[in-house]
Amino acid sequence: MANESANDTARNIGPVILLGPPGAGKGTQAKQIADRYEVPQIATGDLLRDHVGRGTELGLEAAAIMARGELVPDELMYGIVATRLREANCQRGYVLDGFPRTAAQAGWLDAFLEKEVFEKKSEKSQKCPPVVIQLLVDYTELLLRLTGRRSCPTCGRLYNIHFQPPLVDELCDVDESKLVIRNDDREEVISGRLAAYETETKPVADYYRAQRRLVAVNADRPMEDVTAEIFGVIDSHCKDSHCQGGC
Ligand code: AP5
Repeated sequence: MANESANDTARNIGPVILLGPPGAGKGTQAKQIADRYEVPQIATGDLLRDHVGRGTELGLEAAAIMARGELVPDELMYGIVATRLREANCQRGYVLDGFPRTAAQAGWLDAFLEKEVFEKKSEKSQKCPPVVIQLLVDYTELLLRLTGRRSCPTCGRLYNIHFQPPLVDELCDVDESKLVIRNDDREEVISGRLAAYETETKPVADYYRAQRRLVAVNADRPMEDVTAEIFGVIDSHCKDSHCQGGC
């Protein structure tokens, strides 16, 4: 049965774009999609934090901006996203978690896909159009999710002290590492991140809605219920799109 399920889901799904405010569950759901369809999760926040951790030129520039909860300039994002999307393991599809985050980034991504994928004589199976899923969550719930979030620095597993606590306080269930709080999950930074979402990222949803490419999902529910609905959206998108599920 396990093999049947893997064969059924390890197929090309094209780009899956997760939109939503900080704390909506983009990272949580991206991991589920990545596991089920065996495609990479591309989280621009993680890519940036990796640059910050390694002290690269980009990381040095991004660190102060991220610490204030503001968005990193579009021009800095395009390079790291283009490099990542050109990697071989993106051929069957990928989940974008945190990108695009401005209307300009959404336009850039469309142009990138058009030029690098759709216009090229690549396999039909690589030409699945993106499915865009917007996660909707109430503001008060977002605050609880962000202030309660903890993660394991070793295996990356996410916890929440309110909704999904570890078995032993502050220790990872898997490897017993001491859990950490993300630098920008401090209350004074959270308000800046939510404000950036309102002014700069909401227009991204408008951009995709105007093109009838946006599917809204109520993410103010137990994680498994949200995951089940998202899998349904991806499966029906594959059946409906021009690749006719052949991908
Ligand atoms: P980024 O890392 O992308 O952070 P974010 O968008 O603020 O989103 P979060 O990671 O906080 O939340 P999430 O939606 O992934 O929720 P999660 O699954 O973790 O960006 C960080 C910074 O990088 C930005 O501020 C910006 O400076 C910069 N940046 C990144 N991308 C950029 C771009 N494209 N352009 C410019 N700048 C960029 O869940 C949160 C918590 O809730 C967890 O504890 C989880 O366990 C819990 N939870 C999840 N789902 C549920 C549920 N259904 N019920 C109960 N609890 C739940």
